[in-house]
Amino acid sequence: MTQNLPKTHYLTDYQPPAFEVESLFLTFELLPNGTRVTNRMQVHRVKDLSAPLVLDGEGLELIQVDLDGVALMPTQYDVTDTQLILPDVPERFELEIVTEIDPENNTRLEGLYRTSGNYCTQCEAEGFRRITYYFDRPDVLTYFTTKIIADKQDNKVLLSNGNLVEVGDLPNDRHYAIWKDPYKKPCYLFALVAGNLEEVEDTFITRDQRQIDLRIYVEPKNLDKCEHAMESLKRSMKWDEERFGLVYDLDIYMIVAVDDFNMGAMENKGLNVFNSKYVLAKPETATDADYEGIESVIGHEYFHNWTGNRVTCRDWFQLTLKEGLTVFRDQEFTSDMLSPAVKRIEDVKRLRNNQFPEDAGPMSHPIQPQSYIEMNNFYTMTVYEKGAEVVRLYHTLLGEAGFQKGMQLYFDRFDGQAVTVEDFRNAMADANEIDLAQMHNWYTQAGTPTLKVEKHFDAATGTLTLHCEQSLKGQSAHAPLLIPVLFGFLNDDGRALPVRPGENSRNKVFETEKGHLLKLTTLSETFEFTGLSQEPHLSLLRHFSAPVNLEYAASDEELMMLASHDADSFVRWESIQTLALKNIEDNVARFQAGNGMVFSEHYQQAFQAVLEAKGLDPALKALAIGLPDLPYVFEQFETIDVDAVLQAVEYQKAQIAQTFSGALDKAYLAHCSKKAYCYDKHDMAARMLKNQCLAYLAYGAEPVVRAVAQYEQQQNMTDVLAALNALNHLAVSEREACLSDFYERWQQDTLVMDKWFSLQARSESEQALQDVRGLLEHPDFNYRNPNRVRSVLGVFGRLNMKAFHDASGEGYALLAEEVLKMDKINPQVAARLVTAFTSWKRFKGHRQDKMQSALQHIAADKALSKDVYEIVSKSLE
Ligand code: PHE
Ligand code: ZN
Repeated sequence: MTQNLPKTHYLTDYQPPAFEVESLFLTFELLPNGTRVTNRMQVHRVKDLSAPLVLDGEGLELIQVDLDGVALMPTQYDVTDTQLILPDVPERFELEIVTEIDPENNTRLEGLYRTSGNYCTQCEAEGFRRITYYFDRPDVLTYFTTKIIADKQDNKVLLSNGNLVEVGDLPNDRHYAIWKDPYKKPCYLFALVAGNLEEVEDTFITRDQRQIDLRIYVEPKNLDKCEHAMESLKRSMKWDEERFGLVYDLDIYMIVAVDDFNMGAMENKGLNVFNSKYVLAKPETATDADYEGIESVIGHEYFHNWTGNRVTCRDWFQLTLKEGLTVFRDQEFTSDMLSPAVKRIEDVKRLRNNQFPEDAGPMSHPIQPQSYIEMNNFYTMTVYEKGAEVVRLYHTLLGEAGFQKGMQLYFDRFDGQAVTVEDFRNAMADANEIDLAQMHNWYTQAGTPTLKVEKHFDAATGTLTLHCEQSLKGQSAHAPLLIPVLFGFLNDDGRALPVRPGENSRNKVFETEKGHLLKLTTLSETFEFTGLSQEPHLSLLRHFSAPVNLEYAASDEELMMLASHDADSFVRWESIQTLALKNIEDNVARFQAGNGMVFSEHYQQAFQAVLEAKGLDPALKALAIGLPDLPYVFEQFETIDVDAVLQAVEYQKAQIAQTFSGALDKAYLAHCSKKAYCYDKHDMAARMLKNQCLAYLAYGAEPVVRAVAQYEQQQNMTDVLAALNALNHLAVSEREACLSDFYERWQQDTLVMDKWFSLQARSESEQALQDVRGLLEHPDFNYRNPNRVRSVLGVFGRLNMKAFHDASGEGYALLAEEVLKMDKINPQVAARLVTAFTSWKRFKGHRQDKMQSALQHIAADKALSKDVYEIVSKSLE
């Protein structure tokens, strides 16, 4: 809590640790309200002969401290709110600290807490200090041994990291287990789980023929929903061996699913803890998106075992070292398991909808932040998703083989160490004997770069010049970024034209496995191409080869041609999206000028061509005919006029529904199937297109027929939810009937009920605001469950642009009150909710004022957490 201003931490203040921990023995005597933790460590000093011993600790009750077996008097140490300080310690010593904690009342879900009657821990980033006094920093690595003692009845299962080395019974119906982790690790990777969980077991045989025990622990009622997670785990293990040559290093791999979790999942060594949302699935309860999310998060946490755990971060400013790299790896995994083209587009959408706005707002930061108040606030789209894009730049520049050489050298050099993003870059550079120093600029500069391209063609000489300029908003002289641009030349029919770099461009244009690549290294640069018998059309930024905003004035005709013919599916998708965006932008201007709206002819033609294209993956069709998401549409405007944008988008949907009702209906029927649910890319693609058509049909003349029929079939959750989504914005009795049927069916299933809550929280209906108030009062609403809170308040602030931005300002007032309430319960979750306000300066007139007032109202609370304080204060600056 913030009586005085919270402290800012700076990257430049980094100091290596003064002490080394040789080993750590933790003993937990578990009780819901008074768990006793005994922490015995062997420590020696490595520098600063006179420095005191300073350990981190928060919310702990200190019982006893022994130094080399002798109990210390309270006068021999200092205890503050955040530290335990021993002014005088020998060069080498054993320290034993006993503390007590209260897991039952831990609603922050950091440290040791209870969830559904079980014990579980969350230590990243700085939660271990809520378990015991320790060096809570990632560059202090040691060997952990953990003894868990607990009542047998309520805690059949006792788990921690590493291998189980001893179990036994104790008096009074208690028992214990001792786990030993043979790998050194920082404390953020520590985990403990205890309770009455059931397990699903399987095995994996590594390529060196070792048998690994795989276990997924869940509440008994969920045993029938683990198969997909287990299959995903085995696929992850196999893929990492085949693509990265990385093999698992313990004899057992455990995953625990819990309902109360702040994030998606956590890569604790050998004992991952997962939000149950990323484990549990069966066709009746989980959608295609859920299945895909499970596969990718299971992969992500598994891949961390090498990129994060075996090689970890020196300090939290290096977070993208493990997260950017591991997201890149999980993206490649999904891409290899499903469709590369679809996955790339989904990832670009995610980046643009979430990361671009973050990077354009007051919380904007480089992928390597230079300072923070609360580290939890920096588990961001920027560090994760833009970080992954930057890793992808190395991959594009070096190719798969070069990238893998770099990875190999990275592990050879740094296994068992805590390192920096520079170490990663140097490994990539040294392994390939090239200079990558300029890549550093991607790590230290915030903001989405703009890449402006102009084309000149000299017909007389057959020479094409491309003039490229890069800029970073608000920064007049930024350090130039190394921007790889994949590209191609096309003739009027969409056929490839030859790419022949001229004299001045030979060393800047390359042939790569992903196609022609232009390497931009300065702020402004001209590239020449010769030997062209006609003026080519440009296909630029193929594969979205760099996380930039491309500014290139293509004509509608060019965009239509690219949408139908380009060799790169990202560019095809992007071209039709650009046509849609131009149409929407045009209509926003018309609306503002009081004129009627128009439905672009060129967009219509492109839409029809894609929808009816023969042999095109239905998933790509679905993505192409979908409109750009609202957050990305908002991003196109300096000042956001919510009413105008919503009207323009609404109009676009209605026009599509009306103009193409026949074709949409036909495509819908063509992709219906009676087949049993299967997690398979072809089936998923068919469902995606069918449901995109259904969504449009709901804006047409007969909005409810198909949706109600699809709901009633109850084929699988993907289709059921798509039907509800289609009905969700309509003021019809069918909507209420289906929603209450859904509630009756699924009342007992927490994850499915989250869907029921979130549907209503994002409804475009007129009483959505009122409904959200009702949801908060609903008996199944629960402030202590982050998923439930996010499914109402997170969804409302992030996805319900209509109700959240209601002209009355009531949406803002509602969220502000809820943030304040949540902050007392779980600051991390509250801080995420408050980000809905951060872009307030971008909004027009009265909305801007009202959002500002809401933020000021939050800021006025004298007892704000550091988490919320940081975001609110930076937003109001
Ligand atoms: N390290 C986790 C991941 O990326 C995310 C996480 C961070 C989970 C902090 C919990 C707390 O998979
Ligand atoms: Zn991660």
